[in-house]
Amino acid sequence: MDIENVNCKLKVSQCADMEISYIERPIKVTQEITGLEKLVEELHRVFSDNHVNVQDVQKLMAGYKSDPKDWRKYAKFDRFRYTRNLVDCGNGLFNIMILCWGPAHASAIHDHADSHCFMKVLSGRLHEIRYDWPEKIQPEVMKKLNKSRRRCCSESEDKILNDSQHCENDSCHNYGGKIDGQDGGQNGANGKENGDYDPQNMEEIGRTQLEVNDVCYINDALGLHRMENPSHVDGCVSLHLYCPPFDSCRVFDARTGKPTEVKVTFWSMYGKKINRVIEATRNDIADSQ
Ligand code: SIN
Repeated sequence: MDIENVNCKLKVSQCADMEISYIERPIKVTQEITGLEKLVEELHRVFSDNHVNVQDVQKLMAGYKSDPKDWRKYAKFDRFRYTRNLVDCGNGLFNIMILCWGPAHASAIHDHADSHCFMKVLSGRLHEIRYDWPEKIQPEVMKKLNKSRRRCCSESEDKILNDSQHCENDSCHNYGGKIDGQDGGQNGANGKENGDYDPQNMEEIGRTQLEVNDVCYINDALGLHRMENPSHVDGCVSLHLYCPPFDSCRVFDARTGKPTEVKVTFWSMYGKKINRVIEATRNDIADSQ
């Protein structure tokens, strides 16, 4: 089954028999969506079905042409870090939010808690930098499917293969670590204890520049990522849809690959700023490195 046909109402690891194949680029817009409200309404309609196709959601998001008057009331910036502003909670099935990135703001390398993540740039420009999972950590989706991902193929052919399968390409190597769930992939093949990480850089596997109205998609099977506003002058606004919604995920130390579970919070909800308790240590996805 192609990733486009995966049911994005389910967690990624529940999408059995999933294979990742090339996603149509550029996304063909089949329906013009007039306004953000209309987009939200259409997304509710699409998600009311039992099966929601990943590609259809991307098409819908691409069909909306960003207009600041639609989303200005949600776009609340902070001087120090990017903000997450809830627009709609999708009847509990998905979350739609607007993220506001000040100059040079960035997220830390993170996973997507087994959810589907759709993104669209509304204003400015964003860079998406993708990473391989650290050698010792397997995402839920790989554990569940008892498969190892091999990075042998070109990006467009990046596949999930059964353990017994192998790639024709000689330069092929797989994720490594245990994949049978015995230690959840947390202990390395070298038998080190949990939390004992060798200094190793996270491996960058792709970089994409997203312009206004560009849409992209990621899930844990495709890797990890971080986003950054490359401008040191201008802000950037992006629209994100997560399905199913999640309130925590893991961020990864860029030097060692060590994961930390963090809570994700909102800066505002439905256009209203939230009174936040200032915490001594703030643990979230915003990059503090
Ligand atoms: C991102 O970098 O993909 C945004 C993360 C978030 O939802 O806070």
